[in-house]
Amino acid sequence: MSIKCYKGVLLMQKESIYKQVETDIYSVTEGETNVVANMATISCLLNFAFEDFYWVGFYVVDPDKTNELVVGPYQGTLGCLRITFERGVCGKAAKTGKTQIIDNVHNFPGHIACDSQTNSEIVVPVFDKHKKLIAVLDVDSTKFSTFDKIDQLWLEKIITNVFSN
Ligand code: SME
Repeated sequence: MSIKCYKGVLLMQKESIYKQVETDIYSVTEGETNVVANMATISCLLNFAFEDFYWVGFYVVDPDKTNELVVGPYQGTLGCLRITFERGVCGKAAKTGKTQIIDNVHNFPGHIACDSQTNSEIVVPVFDKHKKLIAVLDVDSTKFSTFDKIDQLWLEKIITNVFSN
């Protein structure tokens, strides 16, 4: 398994990077039931696989406050600690249970600028085996319009296979 070699390989298409990183994620997380370990592993492997991924991590549903997210395992610059379901792209993904793709975060009302270098992002809700929302996966980029339906399909597939099956 090689990880770092994806970075800087400019000709490699998004789909083939996802295919490889998906295999890597399943091979490392197979049989592991600890949610934190799996979130840390996914954050690390995705972050190293894609040049454009600037911040990759999870905000988990606070068990004591069911309408609030608290930062979980991540790779990147300092993230905000807490986000209510009423705020930001993460909050919207948590509240609606639907993936959010934002081409320009500066046009998103209520976007939380944990890092002013972020310009686009995708946030994928994470459900457990009982279809209960447990977290969101947040991936940020310093470029505009980094994420599209291909990212959505692959990230949702990986997240579902690791946390919901
Ligand atoms: N992007 C988020 C905030 C979290 S950070 O970017 C790490 C949002 O607006 O929901």
